Amino acid sequence: MTDDVLIQRPDAYPGVQVIRFNRPAKKNAITRAMYAKMAGALTIAGTDDTVRAIAFLGTDGCFSAGNDMNDFMAFAMGGTMGGEVIAFLRALAASAKPIVSGVDGLAIGIGTTIHLHCDMTIASPRSLFRTPFVDLALVPEAASSLIVPRFAGHQRAFALLAAGEPFTAEQALAAGLIWKITEADAIETGVLTLAAGLAAKPPEALRIARSLIRGDRADVLARIDEEAGHFAAQLKSAEARAAFEAFMRR
Ligand code: COA
Repeated sequence: MTDDVLIQRPDAYPGVQVIRFNRPAKKNAITRAMYAKMAGALTIAGTDDTVRAIAFLGTDGCFSAGNDMNDFMAFAMGGTMGGEVIAFLRALAASAKPIVSGVDGLAIGIGTTIHLHCDMTIASPRSLFRTPFVDLALVPEAASSLIVPRFAGHQRAFALLAAGEPFTAEQALAAGLIWKITEADAIETGVLTLAAGLAAKPPEALRIARSLIRGDRADVLARIDEEAGHFAAQLKSAEARAAFEAFMRR
């Protein structure tokens, strides 16, 4: 199993399962194997009573540069997509456990949209959120086309998801994409402490509160599938292939 993402249970933070990107040489770009490992970890966490909170973390200066471009290219060239991405997105969106995340630096593509399914996200001032879907001839994913307009309004949703405008940490905070901004060297401790605090709360009360706040997930899961249909079709398009080739050549 890949070590490009690590699943950890730190002793100092009881009840917390950490999902930590560990591929800094490739800016924590997410491969199919990484999605599969994360989906498995989320599914197991759902039935493991000793896991009471989940925390996503990246590496120094980088949360994730998004989906691995080589996997996009392989699919564009006629390969199979595999079910790993969708399995991960569905497990993430349907998670019954609270999820927190910490961002220090780059958060691109799914590196941004992951946080739409997190309950509290802390980011460093140097963080940058960007979803260049349309620039890559792709479309929004992770139900972002449904969730972002709801909390940020049409204009900011369009700027982020269609125009591919980068959002600074301050802009992400103003838009409601993240909970707060913390200095980079305090992200890890802050996120783990936050997760451990949630893990220590009465689990059933927290589960109900979270469920009420998040509402019915059926529309979110349906939008994930709807977006994925367009995404897969666009991945096969000539315009997407040209964009991937431009990335490979740069
Ligand atoms: N998929 C695969 N590899 C990636 C990657 C991705 N999404 N993002 C970065 N990498 C790799 C680069 O190919 C490079 O590998 P190499 O050293 O073997 O050449 C390494 O990570 C470092 O990236 P580099 O581009 O040299 O760093 P940078 O600081 O100049 O730029 C980014 C960083 C993230 C801005 C730039 O790499 C980028 O735009 N990546 C693509 C992001 C993206 O569009 N993701 C998909 C969203 S849907």
